[in-house]
Amino acid sequence: MRGHFLEVLDLSRDEFVEAVRTAVRFKTEGYPSSGLKGKTIALIFEKPSTRTRVSFTSAISRLGGRFDYISSAELQLARGEPVSDVGRVLSRYVDGLVCRVYSHSTLEELAANSRVPVINALSDKHHPCQALADLMTVFELKKTFKGVKVAFVGDGNNVATSLMQACALTGVDFAIASPEGYWVPEEERRKALESARASGAELTFTEDPVEAVRDADFVYTDVFVSMGFEAERERRLKAFLPRYRVTRELMSKAKPGAKFMHCMPVKRGEEVEAEVADGPSSVMIDQAENRMHTEAALLYLIYGRWK
Ligand code: CP
Ligand code: NVA
Repeated sequence: MRGHFLEVLDLSRDEFVEAVRTAVRFKTEGYPSSGLKGKTIALIFEKPSTRTRVSFTSAISRLGGRFDYISSAELQLARGEPVSDVGRVLSRYVDGLVCRVYSHSTLEELAANSRVPVINALSDKHHPCQALADLMTVFELKKTFKGVKVAFVGDGNNVATSLMQACALTGVDFAIASPEGYWVPEEERRKALESARASGAELTFTEDPVEAVRDADFVYTDVFVSMGFEAERERRLKAFLPRYRVTRELMSKAKPGAKFMHCMPVKRGEEVEAEVADGPSSVMIDQAENRMHTEAALLYLIYGRWK
């Protein structure tokens, strides 16, 4: 652990798996109530959040730590204070910065100027805390990462990129179907392929959703219009619909018994049919719950074993 967690590949395979296993232990046996005793974590958010904000604050409280939630609009950042100054100053007050930002470069600048760990709570490029919870959900259901396949259908966005990295790291086979122009960035694909060479994960990139979900144990999607991309809504819906919507028909092309995954919030009727999102194969609420357990495990390990 180099100190910051800006993307999944900042963790080694062993660290990632240890975080998942620790989260499973917390979920089943309870949290060590003084795991973060004496630690204060600042949460700085430029964008709205339901899950990330409350899962982090609850995880920190359960571990006996303190937190301070700050909307970035309330910081001098909003009046043009340099990100580097914010990083240098805040890291003298607190033990960690959990930040949700528009531009990934903001996180990199904060991290470069922070004396304490910076954790990515979502940027335009990565959502690594989501991927930890996603792989925990896969592990809970399959009891292994070996011989498991996850298919992502839709926008090659922050969630898809982090999921791809997490599968590549842990040896889970991963297929992604996106329309031309909405693929995961080339550089991210290269890094994931390199990581997959070490783990043995098979990565497949296609424009065909049916090909992607073939033999998949999990079918994952996310919104077509992420936060910050609202101006592109019309163009995006034209590119994605109707082919990339996860329907009951598409689920029937995956492995029998395949589970449906979504990071939430969900746009029912857009990237997924309501019948799938709210149907018996959906595990999205478990994923959401697992955000809290994996974030608790991550913090516990950062300030304990990995420090
Ligand atoms: N999945 C996720 O990050 O949700 P929020 O935007 O509600 O935090
Ligand atoms: N891709 C979505 C994820 C929200 C949790 C977004 O960035 O808005």
